[in-house]
Amino acid sequence: MDLTEHSFLQVFFIVLWIMMPAYLSNTFAVITGGKFPIDQGKTHSDGNRILGDGKTWSGLIGGTIGGIVIGYLQINHGTIFIDRIANSESYNFWGENPLAIIFLLAFGALLGDMAASFFKRRKKLNRGDKSPLLDMFDFIGMALFLTLIFDPTWLKSWILDGYVPLFTLLVATPLLHRGVNIIGYKLGIKNEPW
Ligand code: CTP
Ligand code: MG
Repeated sequence: MDLTEHSFLQVFFIVLWIMMPAYLSNTFAVITGGKFPIDQGKTHSDGNRILGDGKTWSGLIGGTIGGIVIGYLQINHGTIFIDRIANSESYNFWGENPLAIIFLLAFGALLGDMAASFFKRRKKLNRGDKSPLLDMFDFIGMALFLTLIFDPTWLKSWILDGYVPLFTLLVATPLLHRGVNIIGYKLGIKNEPW
């Protein structure tokens, strides 16, 4: 895949397409979540919850499976769609091990979200309290980090193709994250619009 051959908008959509399992795993976690807190209700030595009731096994597992299903649908039924918008000629968007990368994107996003909750609890923020920068980049950061460890060649094959991929992640991620959360809030599946 050579993203430098594409226009700004095409790269923009390709990057969103690649990252879709990471973007949507959180949405699935909100839907399936709420049962069996991962920290089992335990507190850290600072007296606050380790992670809090917002990080549960049902969310972690449901979100990971949801993200994988999205990726599977993208691979098997989405090519016509993305090829038409981005003129991408059936690229191997997720490299040689697409299911592994998709798993790491979905799971990594939720792991990043959990790590952020850990830091939020250490800063005495309660479940659901705002922490704008952390909330917006935690999930994408960890998702990309896991793929970097697993398959650096794949990540470097697109993320450094010009400035547009990184620009897209930096600019579109917060907007998309906020947009999806506002929708979830309006639909009543999320407690806060962030
Ligand atoms: N959720 C879950 N398990 C996860 C992630 C999310 O059960 N691993 C569910 C929880 O019901 C959570 C909701 O999705 O309340 C929204 O997720 P998020 O905004 O990440 O959690 P918060 O409730 O805001 O908690 P925190 O302050 O720890 O982020
Ligand atoms: Mg939150």
